[in-house]
Amino acid sequence: MTTDKQEITARAHTNIALVKYWGKKDDNLIIPQTDSISLTLADFYTDTTVAFDDQLSADSLKIDNKPIFDKEALKVQKVLDLVRNLAKINTYAKVSSTNHVPMAAGLASSASGFAALAAAASRAAGLDLSDTDLSRLARQGSGSASRSVFGGFVQWHSGNDNETSFATQIDSAQNWDIKVVALIIKKSRKKHSSTQAMRESVETSPYYPVWRQVVAKDLKTITHAIRTHDFDLLGSTSELNAMRMHALTLSSDPAFTYFNGQTIELLEKVKELRANNVNCYATVDAGPNIKVLCQSKDLNQIITVFSQLIGPENVIATEPGSGIQYL
Ligand code: PMV
Repeated sequence: MTTDKQEITARAHTNIALVKYWGKKDDNLIIPQTDSISLTLADFYTDTTVAFDDQLSADSLKIDNKPIFDKEALKVQKVLDLVRNLAKINTYAKVSSTNHVPMAAGLASSASGFAALAAAASRAAGLDLSDTDLSRLARQGSGSASRSVFGGFVQWHSGNDNETSFATQIDSAQNWDIKVVALIIKKSRKKHSSTQAMRESVETSPYYPVWRQVVAKDLKTITHAIRTHDFDLLGSTSELNAMRMHALTLSSDPAFTYFNGQTIELLEKVKELRANNVNCYATVDAGPNIKVLCQSKDLNQIITVFSQLIGPENVIATEPGSGIQYL
């Protein structure tokens, strides 16, 4: 296949897991231990532009206008190599990626980044991949990226190999009244890489076998909640699932936590609001920030309460987002 300098830009949104992915069974292919379910978010996304160019003597990789190196660059090159292999080309690529989050950092996610990269790079190389193939490709950059190919509620099927491990949409979430409020506690990058932390949990937490059972049950409950539009069942199951995921890092050897003092304080506030009939539930990923799930009727009150505590600039409301778009 011949290459031209076709420049393609793709947009992918971040997602928040409601049933978490925490543990791999194949580190290289990124095959997870269990399935997971997420919700794609509208206001946090990445735009990535890729062009393969015969004139280049190496891949040129930039995120937010800055060149990237080391581990970060290797992950991007891994996805580019997979694309080159599929397209039967050996041309280097120019990749430029911009994270659109309402803040400088803190919510930028590898999920949106690798989903946008998979989409832009494969098209720029002349491939016309299905969403399922894009999900398989994005997964090999970052596991959670497999879900960001799709909008709304998404399930990543763990599978056993490259062919069988990919995400599918459960529901577009378009007819759902569901909002997500991000509470930004810390903007710096996470110290503990999720890959390393997952490995420690799988290998050293005595609770890991039980976590597999927790996930199996929560997958069924959340799927049912999505089908029946049962917001409280969805929220309560998601919150408990997140707490149980974080119990894995606390029970690893060496033990650690992604929470900081403010995470705990704000989680208590979510409970307090609930006790006062504000239907909201919290979830936390591999960092101290919190995402609060709620419905339109309670949105303003939730924004007001948390703005008073951490400042309005650190409280960002969003809603379900769509899958990959080409710009
Ligand atoms: O895809 P990674 O390696 O960034 O891992 C994501 C892990 C969690 O965000 C904590 C859970 C999830 O399912 O997204």
